[in-house]
Amino acid sequence: MNTSELQQEIRRLCVERNALLLAHNYQRDEIQEIADITGDSLGLSMEAARTDKDVIVFCGVHFMAESAAILAPDKTVLLPRLDAGCPMADMVTAEGLRELKAQHPDATVVTYVNSSAAVKAESDICCTSSNAVNVARSLDAKKLLLVPDRNLGRYIARHVPEKECICWEGYCPTHDRLTVADIERARAEHPDALFMAHPECTPEVLALADHICSTSGMYAFARSSEARKFIVGTEMGILYRLRKENPDKEFILPSKALICPNMKLTSLEDVLRALQTMQPVVTVDAEIRQKAKTALDRMLAVPR
Ligand code: 13P
Ligand code: SF4
Repeated sequence: MNTSELQQEIRRLCVERNALLLAHNYQRDEIQEIADITGDSLGLSMEAARTDKDVIVFCGVHFMAESAAILAPDKTVLLPRLDAGCPMADMVTAEGLRELKAQHPDATVVTYVNSSAAVKAESDICCTSSNAVNVARSLDAKKLLLVPDRNLGRYIARHVPEKECICWEGYCPTHDRLTVADIERARAEHPDALFMAHPECTPEVLALADHICSTSGMYAFARSSEARKFIVGTEMGILYRLRKENPDKEFILPSKALICPNMKLTSLEDVLRALQTMQPVVTVDAEIRQKAKTALDRMLAVPR
């Protein structure tokens, strides 16, 4: 089958299975093209929680499908590639977090959704890149453990100077690769461009940004800004929709290294196979699910 035949067959099967096709903003173009909804981690979690479909096909990475399974336990959640993980999520384990909590029994644990269900279950509240600062500000706690992304953690810490913040030393290998030199080069070539950056970038890179936001925040910024040119500090998959929605604006990727191999694993063939076989299904152990859900529900209750 060629690309368009694959896409048509996937759409046909989505109707037959009563399935919702969700795609993260970093997915391959041909998958974003046929998704019911594309979005950031928070947006997709919320869609999973509210859908009345029987099946959720999650084109993203493992922790995202787990979040959907936690928030929508009566749905069948399919992750077309079970090996699509997130290296940052793998940088913290439930056991490791329990040890850190034991050292800081007075702290509140704020865990980025880029984490396993078992780690979320050890946490007080979750956050995503789009609500992290609001989540931290909503807490009475004076001391926060920010897990697992040190870059997002430092970004949060700068916005809540009144709180003591302890960051786990995890990071996203894709965003962490973006350097100050990359941005300076892009700026020299495009002096009229605005630089928008994801908070998973290093503090040095974020210090150069005109706007810091989640992936979906970048769509909103590009749409509403008067600027005609943007340097894009996040994974290259975001360019598909940025360019489609803003044909009169220019988007520049400052480094060829801004590609997440895990996000690119899922192909149309994988999505089709998942819908045909109704596998692989992502489930979460009931006890872990309940605790992780509490942390996610607390996050969802924080105003956006
Ligand atoms: P958001 O889409 O929530 O901004 O997250 C980025 C990311 O790296 C997800 O893996
Ligand atoms: Fe994980 Fe980074 Fe890939 Fe997102 S872009 S899935 S944080 S490795």
